Parts: sequence; C-alpha cells; structure tokens
Amino acid sequence: MKLLGVLAVVLALHSAHAKVYFREEFLDGDEWRSRWVDSKHKSDYGEWKLTSGGFYGDAEKDKGLQTSQDARFYATSARFEPFSNEGKSLVIQFTVKHEQKIDCGGGYVKVFPADLDQTDMHGESAYYIMFGPDICGYSTKKVHVIFNYKGKNHLIKKEIKCKDDELTHLYTLVLNPDQTYEVKIDNEKVESGSLEDDWDFLPPKKIKDPEAKKPEDWDDRAKIDDAEDTKPVDWDKPENIPDPDAKKPDDWDEDMDGEWEPPMIPNPEYKGEWKPKQIDNPNYKGQWVHPEIDNPEYSPDSDIYTFDKIAVLGLDLWQVKSGTIFDNFLITDDVKEAEDIGNETWGVTKEPERKMKQEQDDMKRKEEEERNKEQDTEDTEDDEEEDEEDDEDVEDTKDDTEEGLSEMDKKEVKSKDEL
Ligand SMILES: *[C@@H]1O[C@H](CO)[C@@H](O)[C@H](O)[C@H]1NC(C)=O
Repeated sequence: MKLLGVLAVVLALHSAHAKVYFREEFLDGDEWRSRWVDSKHKSDYGEWKLTSGGFYGDAEKDKGLQTSQDARFYATSARFEPFSNEGKSLVIQFTVKHEQKIDCGGGYVKVFPADLDQTDMHGESAYYIMFGPDICGYSTKKVHVIFNYKGKNHLIKKEIKCKDDELTHLYTLVLNPDQTYEVKIDNEKVESGSLEDDWDFLPPKKIKDPEAKKPEDWDDRAKIDDAEDTKPVDWDKPENIPDPDAKKPDDWDEDMDGEWEPPMIPNPEYKGEWKPKQIDNPNYKGQWVHPEIDNPEYSPDSDIYTFDKIAVLGLDLWQVKSGTIFDNFLITDDVKEAEDIGNETWGVTKEPERKMKQEQDDMKRKEEEERNKEQDTEDTEDDEEEDEEDDEDVEDTKDDTEEGLSEMDKKEVKSKDEL
C-alpha cells in the first residue's frame, strides 16, 4: 500500500514536470476547424477530411486529418502558446498513415515561430523545424530533419529511411539541450547523434593551413624505376605478323586483285612496351599531409538547438495520390511523456488496425480469385470482357502522365523548400 502511494506520487511528480505545449488528436468532431487555420495563399489547396480511413484500430480515436484530393497542395496549421525550448528537451511527435499506397507526397510537419501569418502559410514561409517522412517514387523514401539556423535551412547529412507501407506509424523527433538529437519511428530509435556532426550549421573546426605548401623536394613516390635494369636486346618484336599459315587462294588473280599479301595476326612473341623493374624509392618521404589549423571562421555555438517563440505546427505539403492521415500531434519537453502518449495512442490501435487491414486484404484476394474463376468459364463463351480490359488500360496511362507532371512540380517546390 505504502509502495503504491510512493509510486503514485512519483508518477504525479513526473506528469507535473512534463510540459505539453501542443496536443491534437481530433477527438471532438468538427471542433478541429476552430483550431486549425487553412492557408489562403493559393486558391486551390486540397481539402482536409476528418476520418479514420478505410481501416483502423478504433473508429473514433484513429480519426485524423486526411488529404482528400489528388495532385494538390495542402496547407493548414494550428497555433499554441509560444514557448522557448532553451534548457529543455523538445519533442515533436505525430502519426502518419499512407493508406492510399502513396506514390509521391509529403508526410511531414513544419514548426513555425509566432509571427507566422497562418492564412498566408506557404512553401517559402520561414519555419524552425521540418520533420517527417517524404516519399516520391522509389528513390525518395526518407525522413526529413531540417533545422533553421540563423535564417538558413540545414538538411541532415544522414539518410534516414521512412516507412512506406499503408499502416499508421509514429514519428518522433527529440532535440536535447546538449545539442544531441534522436529520431524514432514507432517508439524505436532509428537515428541519433549531435547537431554539429550531422548538420553543417557551423563552418568546419579545422581547415588546411593556407600558408603550408608541399616542399619542392618532397619525394612522394613509393616506388621508382630500377636504374640498373635494362631492356633485353631481343625484347622488341612487332605487334602483328603475317599469318604463316595463310595461303594465297587458288583463284587469286594478280592482275585483277593486286599482289597477294597474307593477313596479319597478333604476334605471340610480342611483349609490349618494355618497362624497367620497380624498386623501393630510398628517398621516399611518405604522402605529404597538408597541415591543418584552427579555422578562424569557426566559433562554437551551444545555442544551435534553441528556438524562441515556437508557436505554430503546420502541414504544408504536396501529394499526388491523396489519402494520408495525420494524427496524434504532440509537442512536449518530456521524452518519456511522449513515449507514454505514443504508447497510449498509436501503441494501442496499431495491432487492431493491422488486423482489420489483413482481413480486408484477405477478403479482396478471395473476391479476386472468385472473379478470375468466373472469368475463366465465361471467356470461352463471351469476349466482351476484353473491351472492359482495354478501357482500364486507358485509365492507367492517364494516371501515369499525371504522376510524371506532378513529380516535376514537386521537385520544384522541394528545392525551394530546402534552400
Ligand atoms: C512503450 O511501449 C513499449 C513496448 O510495449 C515499452 O517497451 C515501453 O517501455 C513503453 N514506454 C513507456 C514510457 O511506457
């Protein structure tokens, strides 16, 4: 009993300590519309829909914002009380579900300073942090971690692979005051390190000494020609010789065909260019290493991780095939609390979601098999089926063209974003 009491106090202290700056799980129907502000920067942004999608672990809890129109930009954001992460950890967490089998589209969030005009948020609005998965074709399947430092966006130098299946996944970014970070997917660490090592925020600590030069007489040849070695007298042989086995054809007519010459063949005695033997160079000094000096441009900065007046979380992205559901947004200063909340939300619904998806897939496969069986029997009597198939082909081609165009659009947008 006493132990339980202590435990309760510890837990209470723990949660009292954790500060949750923003939490959004879309559990109150249409009320989310009063908290989220759509950008009006463009007139044709895609519509967000509140839904748990085609399969889920819990019809209510799994409701989130879904992109509902293909080949559109999406831009909406939610504001919270401005805060600074100075001296504290910063955790940004959310779930993403690409239930549409995404081909190309963003699944990331951006975190903005308080002065963002939400009604005008767009691809070039200055943000502090961009974090989350991005998929385009087979080549781009990564987790972005971009930090703004002194007005410039810096991309992580490591490649972090994102999930590309159709289930809900939990993405977590932890930024610590000791300038270390951690990226987790489904509450498991996938990458970690330090800000200085994994981004180019600061100029390099050391540079090559501009004053230093390789001495003129520095000998960096490990091997040299052996001066004693001479070319053997019988070395030089022609590369090609007349074929000794060739015979003048019987019907060769010297008047008509000219003088007969045997064809040339490679000379088996040919030894190629003569090269003297190589010996160790007695004057070899090793490879010259350019001496390094402290970079005068470098000065350490222990405040790279700090952001002042963090106040808006935004979804600003492009999607070709829509259907992605965003949910369980969380911004806090407590890593353990984030893990707990991740477990209580995503952790609870992931297994039933996987089951429902599995059942649907099994059902579809069965139906498909039934249809194929029917078709096999019909095929012999009826060839109308073929016309139907042709129509489908036309649809496919159209989709492909759309995709191609959209990918180009996206690249343009992305390169702007990342600069
Ligand atoms: C979250 O769930 C995982 C897996 O069940 C568990 O190992 C971990 O301890 C949990 N985290 C917290 C903070 O309870």
